Amino acid sequence: MKRPIPEEALEEIRRRCDLVELVGEYLKLEKRGKNYVGLCPFHHEKTPSFTISPEKQLFHCFGCGASGNIFSFIMKLEGLTFPEAALALARKTGVELPKEESPSPEDSLKEKIYRVNQMAAQYYHYCLTRTEAGKKAREYLQRRGITSESVKLFQLGYAPRSWQGLLNFAAKKGVPAELLAMAGLVTERRSGGYYDRFRGRLIFPVHNLGGQVVGFGGRILEEGSASEPKYLNSPETPVFEKGQVLYGLHLAKEEIRRRRAAVVVEGYTDVIIPYQAGIKNVVASLGTALTTMQGRLLRTQTDVVFIAYDADSAGEAATWRGLKILQEAGVSVKVVQLPQGSDPDSLVREQGEKAFRELLEQALPLTDYQLEQLQARYNLSAEEGRRGFLAEVLPLLESIANLVERDTYLKKTAELLKVSEESLRGELKKFVRRAGQKRRGFHNLSLKDQTNNINQLKVKPAEKILISLMLQGEGIAAIVQNQLSRDDFEDESVRRIVELIWELSKSRPVTGEVIINYFSEESIHALITSAVTEPSLQNLPADKMEKMARDCIRKIKAEKESRRRAELRKRIREMERQGLVEQARELLREHLQAEMGEK
Ligand code: UTP
Ligand code: MN
Repeated sequence: MKRPIPEEALEEIRRRCDLVELVGEYLKLEKRGKNYVGLCPFHHEKTPSFTISPEKQLFHCFGCGASGNIFSFIMKLEGLTFPEAALALARKTGVELPKEESPSPEDSLKEKIYRVNQMAAQYYHYCLTRTEAGKKAREYLQRRGITSESVKLFQLGYAPRSWQGLLNFAAKKGVPAELLAMAGLVTERRSGGYYDRFRGRLIFPVHNLGGQVVGFGGRILEEGSASEPKYLNSPETPVFEKGQVLYGLHLAKEEIRRRRAAVVVEGYTDVIIPYQAGIKNVVASLGTALTTMQGRLLRTQTDVVFIAYDADSAGEAATWRGLKILQEAGVSVKVVQLPQGSDPDSLVREQGEKAFRELLEQALPLTDYQLEQLQARYNLSAEEGRRGFLAEVLPLLESIANLVERDTYLKKTAELLKVSEESLRGELKKFVRRAGQKRRGFHNLSLKDQTNNINQLKVKPAEKILISLMLQGEGIAAIVQNQLSRDDFEDESVRRIVELIWELSKSRPVTGEVIINYFSEESIHALITSAVTEPSLQNLPADKMEKMARDCIRKIKAEKESRRRAELRKRIREMERQGLVEQARELLREHLQAEMGEK
């Protein structure tokens, strides 16, 4: 048994660490009377109910009931045990804990992985800055204009071209290979033994909000070796889940709170180059659409989010959904229009940070940006184009909750179409009424169908989009059938629809109208109808449809994989809790083997 941390040490930590200051490092706080309030980091909310009493040094959230002191705050936020949180705060406040009482052999798996990650980051950093092998990588960084200060700040590194560089280093420190495997740093060979995952790559450690290393991205040094991905990332581990972190947030958070604005970019270098040029409120979503979790991370820090994706990604449906999530979370979203072919990294390097700041100032509110996109897609001087435009602009207008704002955009739209405001308002009224009827229709359904309808609303977006694409684009059904099987879809109704589409499309193109009569359930009718009438999926060019379909297929595969991994993690945690360490390792080994076999 571990001896408890001495009460004097805890007392000293409490004395040195102010709860308001501590919490203030993670979220923005406002003074209200004697207390401070902010948006609760432990549940989703739009108005602050997270309250701190500086007097009592306690917090309480009136929304979710979370409460406690400095230790509980860190425990909850970082998922640590009490001794781990105490250790973290001791380090932070400079309170010395007696050596043998600092947690180590009984560390949780999470804490072990944090340590291993930190050790790996130091190893890679050392290889980059101090070794002959790192020379090429140093030259590469110099060519890209990344300063040695940034190298330190972002803890950049280099993984030498070796199958066991990290393995050997870790062995010398007494770290077992199994633990490196759990951290996703090495891979097990089918024949037994392990090898380094990252080889011959520039290393970008990814930190969580508290500055702990949770994972890594590794970039190849030479472009063009087509067999290898440009960036290789850590797999999911107990401390690293895709879509749960924002790269650079640990460095950017202060500036984000100070400016009440964050800039979201796509890649690692899009954070580093602007940061070293003085634009410090930048974080990266790392090549994926923003998730609810990332939205929440941002929401607790800021009111305004600038999206600075390259022109191609900004046009993608997945990007939209991410932005809608943010907006619905109460953030005002603005879209930065980067010149075709440039990203924040290249822009700042080629034209200076001022050019980027100017683009930030000119960023369009999301709705304006969407209007511009629609305008670019439709030819408003042709009847057909006007009709298509109108079909998409009405739902957009309807979705604006603020009526004054809605009116402003209605005026803008009328001008674009060169029609009177009255007639457009009439069209919008008709549209709203029709939409309302559809919704009221919902209440006339039987209870069973209502429940089904509700279930239908929970269908995964990627699954619904695929249905839509298969019913609208020629050849899409065949692509999907090639890549997925029935069981890859989560929802049973979706499975039935997909099966039918595959069956019928052998002989002819299948539309929503055709398949709808094969089903008797209202809920399935509603699903099919809403899939084929989804405004953002109308009149897409064939190549765009195919690209979207492939994106959705990838997403569905990834979701299935992450469900599988989550299940595995749960089982491993459970075993660990029961002290079955050997069995947990065995399970992990099996899992890694299965994974290797799949490739
Ligand atoms: P980009 O392809 O836009 O790369 O991917 P980049 O950030 O501009 O990279 P540089 O400038 O060529 O070095 C954007 C982000 O998508 C993720 C990475 O996080 C990358 O920063 N990505 C990209 C991957 O994870 N894997 C890849 O193969 C490519
Ligand atoms: Mn780039």
